[in-house]
Amino acid sequence: MPRLEILKYPETQLFEKSAAVSEIDGALQSRINRMFDTLYMSEGLGLAAPQVGCLQSFFIYDLSHHEDEPKHGPGPIVVLNPEIVEMEGEEIADEGCLSIPGYFEKVSRAYRVQLKGQDREGKDIRIEAEGLAARLFQHEIDHLNGVLMLDHLSSLKRNIFLRKFKKKQKYAESK
Ligand code: CO
Repeated sequence: MPRLEILKYPETQLFEKSAAVSEIDGALQSRINRMFDTLYMSEGLGLAAPQVGCLQSFFIYDLSHHEDEPKHGPGPIVVLNPEIVEMEGEEIADEGCLSIPGYFEKVSRAYRVQLKGQDREGKDIRIEAEGLAARLFQHEIDHLNGVLMLDHLSSLKRNIFLRKFKKKQKYAESK
């Protein structure tokens, strides 16, 4: 199956809010399958539907092969209509995003979260996570609200990013 195109910053759809998933049908299942293909081929850990141009509230992830996170396998996992119901603590760590390729920056997130939502069959699920998995949940849910990791940076760091980004854009245009 061909991989889906991952929208890159500053594509406008990345700033829009997703709608709740209400219908679990074949189209949704095949989109989920294609998103996993896309995730694995891009070597990412998680992917939210709006990143592939679908403004529906769900994300997928797979941490089963991640060396830092053996206990949060198994993947692959789909969470429809995710909602964080509890969060606690704080951790600052490096974060990246498939929609902002090549960019990594320290972002402050809650250390532990409890998430509720539905699995790909529509069954209610609740997941407790800490560290990397908790960070991933917060990052992906942000995508569903049109929020990017850039929105969590200090204005100084954000300005540095924007300056570099514009420079890169200009360079690409001049080629
Ligand atoms: Co992202």
